[in-house]
Amino acid sequence: MPSEKTVFDPNPALAKSAYVSSMSQYKEMYQKSIDKPDEFWGDIAKQFHWETPINYDKFHTFNFDITKGPIFTKWMDGATTNICYNLLDRNVRNGHGEKIAFYWEGNHPDDYSRLTYKKLLEEVCRFANVLKNKGIQKGDRVAVYMPMILEAIVTMLACTRIGAVHSLVFAGFSADSFAERILDCEARLLVTADGAWRGEKLLQLKSICDQAMAKCSQKGHNVETCVVVAHLGRVTSPQGTQYSSNKTPMTPGRDVFWHEIVPQACTSCYPEWMEAEDPLFMLYTSGSTGKPKGVLHTTGGYMVYAATTFKYVFDYKQNDVYWCTADIGWITGHTYVVYGPLANAATSVLYEGTPFYPHNDRFWTVVDKYKVNQFYTAPTAIRSLMKFDDELVTKHNLSSLKVLGSVGEPINPEAWHWYYKLVGKERCSIVDTFWQTETGGHVLTPLPGAIPMKPGSAAVPFFGVQPVLLDESGKEIKGEGEGYLVFSRPWPSLMRTLFNNHDRYETTYFTKFPGYYCTGDGARRDADGYLWVTGRVDDMLNVSGHLMSTAEVEAILTENPAVSEAAVVSKPHPVKGECLYCFVTTTENGVFDEILIKQLKQAVREKIGPFAQPDVIQNAPALPKTRSGKIMRRILRKIAVNDRDVGDISTLADSSVVDQLFASRPQGA
Ligand code: PRX
Repeated sequence: MPSEKTVFDPNPALAKSAYVSSMSQYKEMYQKSIDKPDEFWGDIAKQFHWETPINYDKFHTFNFDITKGPIFTKWMDGATTNICYNLLDRNVRNGHGEKIAFYWEGNHPDDYSRLTYKKLLEEVCRFANVLKNKGIQKGDRVAVYMPMILEAIVTMLACTRIGAVHSLVFAGFSADSFAERILDCEARLLVTADGAWRGEKLLQLKSICDQAMAKCSQKGHNVETCVVVAHLGRVTSPQGTQYSSNKTPMTPGRDVFWHEIVPQACTSCYPEWMEAEDPLFMLYTSGSTGKPKGVLHTTGGYMVYAATTFKYVFDYKQNDVYWCTADIGWITGHTYVVYGPLANAATSVLYEGTPFYPHNDRFWTVVDKYKVNQFYTAPTAIRSLMKFDDELVTKHNLSSLKVLGSVGEPINPEAWHWYYKLVGKERCSIVDTFWQTETGGHVLTPLPGAIPMKPGSAAVPFFGVQPVLLDESGKEIKGEGEGYLVFSRPWPSLMRTLFNNHDRYETTYFTKFPGYYCTGDGARRDADGYLWVTGRVDDMLNVSGHLMSTAEVEAILTENPAVSEAAVVSKPHPVKGECLYCFVTTTENGVFDEILIKQLKQAVREKIGPFAQPDVIQNAPALPKTRSGKIMRRILRKIAVNDRDVGDISTLADSSVVDQLFASRPQGA
């Protein structure tokens, strides 16, 4: 097995032309970003348009120490700008009007289109005018539940043009989850599509939105307007059937089709000048307790950081074609499908479908079709594609590729090597990017022309980022060692707060170790100073790159009247990275049988979404608890993987529970 001693140097040809072409150049730039952050980021900020100039004397202020006062971060406070203006108008003015912003590739290979910067600007202005017509103003929240289509991007940018705050929800979340998020942010308007094909599966998006809006109405919040893109009728269905938009249920007075209101709207719309610290968008992420957290990003710092990470981490050059496969409903889709690429006048591919349709080589077909230079995907996708014949990769011409990205979870060395050798032909750099919804952009990552790669390590901090490892007592671990991964200062795109809940922001991220932003992940530093993220140290699970909390799944399981108690742990999974292994204790009258297992799996699908479905549900007549009643999850994790080396169990109230649970593991689990 490769170890941390296995190091791969960047391809010299790539290094030669890269923005950052050696470790020493990286170190020099990094040091400047730490020693003189105002100058470092100030020089970059100058490349953007500021309607009210930046005050360089007060470029950046923050407090990370809860014992000294409220937590805050400000960059370029008081300066005004508009991110949409910078992404579109500025690029059109700089001669990129006819440049392709997006190649859209549909689920079905017969469906594709393209959009230039100029045309994108026009479409965005049209929709921005529609939003204004519908009464949406600066600061209002707009909920978005969309497939991977161009209108999704138009919607996001139209919001930012008028200062509305978009709140995208991944269109794989259930109606319940979506309703909870609409309610929390009190969205006035919702944008969706009638539906979309993902492979051979039809997603009925509008009907999920209808259910979600009905649930919101029951709780007293009425979405005023729902704009629906009639998408199904214009694409090729896997069965070749035609879909008519007449079939889409529309509620008069509330629902309106995109094509009935957008084309006639005016193609110019004056941008709303926003303060650098005005909200840009919010995005929900699971919290380890209770409700999802509405992570709030602001305008100026996010813009500057998204642009800078995109440029350096993907080494994007003006004629390159870039493709990030992430769904726009996640932070990766925000920063590295929309904001980062557009800020650099990049040409990107936007792909609607799955890696497996119509065949298991669709990704490589698309890379070849558009001559993609930078390809960015998740380890779970790589692992699922590794299973197939190598020929599915090798039969395509992938010689355009230069940089291969990975995001969302640790990439195991086997997957790394497959990606590096088979896809990248040992010519490409792999950038294993560690970051979070909260961080807004990459925080640990190699740079493709400069940093030698170690499979499984996210390597080094990006400019301006200062990682620290702490032990349980909060003492800094210097040099080699393992501990809590925290950051001692903000970079421009760190989230500013949790929507409507600054207290929770402070307690979740800044209370355990005063003076630091706490990621919730552990990491190890090796002798060369490389960082290896070891995974979550809290009760969060990462299933196929989707973060969820054990508590939210447990709450759903115990809602079933037959269940008195539940404990959920993660179990390693060859494709998904981790999967859910649930222990349930039934009530006196509850019966543990196949019907209950089915009901519980279904409940999790309905309440969260299909991606959260548990793999295993085990009957647990009792759970391993300490005398004080705390469930010992460490032991449950051992049972889940059938590892009898459970360590010290002397603190358990009843240690016989452990043997019972090993004996009753379901077959095949
Ligand atoms: O545990 C880390 C893992 O994903 C978490 C963040 O999830 P989310 O906010 O949904 O954002 C995912 C996309 C940025 C982190 O706390 N994670 C993300 N990238 C990596 C990773 N773990 C290891 N290596 C990575 N490259």
